Amino acid sequence: MNSARNGAPEASSVLLCLCCVHAFLSCALFGARPVTGQAPKPVFACDVDGDPTLAALGFCNASWGVEARVADLVNRLTLQEKILFLVDNAGNVDRLGIPKYEWWSEALHGVSNVGPGTKFSSPVPGATSFPQVILTAASFNATLFETIGKVVSTEARAMHNVGLAGLTFWSPNVNIFRDPRWGRGQETPGEDPVLSSKYAAGYVRGLQQSDDGNADRLKVAACCKHYTAYDIDNWKGVDRYHFNAVVTQQDLDDTFQPPFKSCVLDGNVASVMCSYNQVNGKPTCADPDLLAGTIRGQWKLNGYIVSDCDSVDVFYNSQHYTKTPEEAAAKAILAGLDLDCGSFLGQHTEAAVKGGLLNESAIDKAISNNFATLMRLGFFDGDPRKQLYGKLGPADVCTPSNQELAREAARQGIVLLKNTAGSLPLSSTAIKSLAVIGPNANVTKTMIGNYEGIPCKYVTPLQGLSAVVSTTYVAGCANVGCGTVQTDDAKKAAASADATVLVMGADQSIERESFDRVDLHLPGQQSLLISDVANVSKGPVILVIMSGGGMDVSFAKDNNKITSILWVGYPGEAGGAAMADVIFGDHNPSGRLPMTWYPQSYADAVPMTNMNMRPDPATGYPGRTYRFYTGPTVYSFGDGLSYSTFSHHLVQAPQLVSVPLEEGHVCRSSLCASLEATGDACSDLAFDVHLRVKNVGRFGGSHTVFLFSSPPSVHRSPQKHLLGFEKVYLASQSEARVQFRVDVCKDLSMVDEAGRRKVALGTHVLHVGDLKHALSVRI
Ligand SMILES: *[C@@H]1O[C@H](CO)[C@@H](O)[C@H](O)[C@H]1NC(C)=O
Ligand SMILES: *[C@@H]1O[C@H](CO)[C@@H](O)[C@H](O)[C@H]1NC(C)=O
Ligand SMILES: *[C@@H]1O[C@H](CO)[C@@H](O)[C@H](O)[C@H]1NC(C)=O
Ligand SMILES: *[C@@H]1O[C@H](CO)[C@@H](O)[C@H](O)[C@H]1NC(C)=O
Ligand SMILES: *[C@@H]1O[C@H](CO)[C@@H](O)[C@H](O)[C@H]1NC(C)=O
Repeated sequence: MNSARNGAPEASSVLLCLCCVHAFLSCALFGARPVTGQAPKPVFACDVDGDPTLAALGFCNASWGVEARVADLVNRLTLQEKILFLVDNAGNVDRLGIPKYEWWSEALHGVSNVGPGTKFSSPVPGATSFPQVILTAASFNATLFETIGKVVSTEARAMHNVGLAGLTFWSPNVNIFRDPRWGRGQETPGEDPVLSSKYAAGYVRGLQQSDDGNADRLKVAACCKHYTAYDIDNWKGVDRYHFNAVVTQQDLDDTFQPPFKSCVLDGNVASVMCSYNQVNGKPTCADPDLLAGTIRGQWKLNGYIVSDCDSVDVFYNSQHYTKTPEEAAAKAILAGLDLDCGSFLGQHTEAAVKGGLLNESAIDKAISNNFATLMRLGFFDGDPRKQLYGKLGPADVCTPSNQELAREAARQGIVLLKNTAGSLPLSSTAIKSLAVIGPNANVTKTMIGNYEGIPCKYVTPLQGLSAVVSTTYVAGCANVGCGTVQTDDAKKAAASADATVLVMGADQSIERESFDRVDLHLPGQQSLLISDVANVSKGPVILVIMSGGGMDVSFAKDNNKITSILWVGYPGEAGGAAMADVIFGDHNPSGRLPMTWYPQSYADAVPMTNMNMRPDPATGYPGRTYRFYTGPTVYSFGDGLSYSTFSHHLVQAPQLVSVPLEEGHVCRSSLCASLEATGDACSDLAFDVHLRVKNVGRFGGSHTVFLFSSPPSVHRSPQKHLLGFEKVYLASQSEARVQFRVDVCKDLSMVDEAGRRKVALGTHVLHVGDLKHALSVRI
């Protein structure tokens, strides 16, 4: 989103929301709508109780199907009225009883007030703020992704019922976290396409699935963004409004597109948002192959395609992609865009039609997609308080159980990266005093990252730890920038306390939307403060990194005085309580890194603008993410320790998979390295991998089992890729069976240079923990 737009629209929507509440009180509660000569200002669309004449309109007739209602509505509108529904701040049509609607709301990790469609004010001053997505992803718990989505949509519906929130939420952000410097990496589920796909589908199902089980109805509408290959905000002056992402077909198909595909096909999302950047010379919001071809044609999106806030304006005014604004409007709509976040289509579409660049039928198609979404949400069914979610209200927001889930999510995500014997967990009986040090040690807003709302309440790290043991707090630096450091008080506190917790890292001043990092080190003098304090500490030294992106903390990894390192992402409103749960052993950590932590040398050598995932030996380009990068890391994808130890035993896996081939197939007579992963040969071609996993340690805890495969190296295949993951809870000394169903064509395949999905013939090595198992794929 473009935060620059926030000012004015927000002000006007405050008025709108107050109007809703006011109109509701004066009309719905205290009597009928006043009857005058003029059409009344509608509060709810198809509010037949307020205006019985509306019942005769087909689009208001709930016994009709969505398609028929939409067609009826579109037929009644003039061209000028239709254009009102091409923009996020959609206009009202009083003669048909249709009120204004603001499409732009956000719910990345809790209901947010970043979009103008949602506000916090009495009677809902705040909503549950879950951890920033990168930490939730680190839980590798697909159930959790969906559970959070469900709670967020319940709170959203409750707010909608009192006029404080919309129904269309532009979340989640499922772009691949390709480069550690990206300021918005924090919003994403990380660098792996399989994890991102599962996150996308899970969170979207949680948000959207209707309580009555009707697949045609939506609880709220989610939106997967930003389509596609968008992951640069502003790096050394290269900004997202001008950047042309040069992407190979292979990288597009096996890295950038999968989360969007899964979001549409597995999550049934109601919307996809195209991005600001160009992909291979075309703005994504003007590319008919990407929009009409792929999203609507191949994936069959049931919903609407929306632009980022002001993508159309951006490709006209900043990228000069078309000569006239009318051409830009026509190109966007003809490419398959249905809704403009912004005002551009509102201003230029009529002239585009008059000038013959666009037929009215194209506008009908676009607004039909928008209306169909609103129909599925019940927008055209009158007062929402008389519908399926009508009973939800302020009492359903920030409930104790919702807030407990925020704490639980943070606990499940927190990653233990280093733990010297005798360090964590701290004993709450043996440890009588704690030095709590660092610029993030008592922060509130930092914990909720960006695309945040107003939380129910905060528990800061200091507050969480102080609830367990007596603490001494020293910030050490004025802020995370840590330009100057005051080590004396911090050293004094650490020298006398039984243990030291340093809460360091970043906040939105270091990494944010429109601001990428250049430096992977801890900001300013933070490492000096850490080393000085560690050197004089009496007891164990726990370094806590609060950040979205990975940090080069090699100095701390190598320093024996620093006995533990935890990464807590931006852990949400209950982050401090969750940290204390982990540090004092009330929760056994089970989070795993969803992205590679690179050393600073990587950032020095690799331009952020190089989109290639695969290494290039000719130029020394090292490639990206655990799938392709083989150089040194500070910490790797999947890293994360437990207070316990888990062993894996392979119970069952095939050694040979035979792919049946038809008589005439070329590979029957010639040497083939791979087969097309489509068609008859693929049907039912699957096998199971059974594992026995045992908790051989003293602490009960959850453990994520990763199934990776290293395919034969043909078609520049990844060195290793994740096939699946499963999280299990195991009490001390107990064991469980974990089973993976591997679909040969879907899971074991990869994409070739031309973007075709192929199964490589030869040996695929399956990895689970330290286990390796060779699997031969033959014809
Ligand atoms: C709604 O549509 C049904 C089916 O076409 C029709 O029987 C009914 O009369 C309509 N309701 C109103 C209020 O017009
Ligand atoms: C508008 O519709 C006419 C008639 O169907 C068609 O020939 C023409 O190509 C269309 N124009 C555009 C810009 O799509
Ligand atoms: C810690 O932060 C909380 C919340 O902002 C504040 O009320 C409290 O005074 C702070 N504590 C210290 C010791 O600064
Ligand atoms: C650690 O402290 C000792 C004295 O206790 C001092 O000699 C040494 O220089 C310190 N090292 C660091 C890295 O600060
Ligand atoms: C996954 O998350 C769900 C929802 O919070 C929780 O009930 C479950 O215990 C978690 N699974 C594991 C294995 O930790």
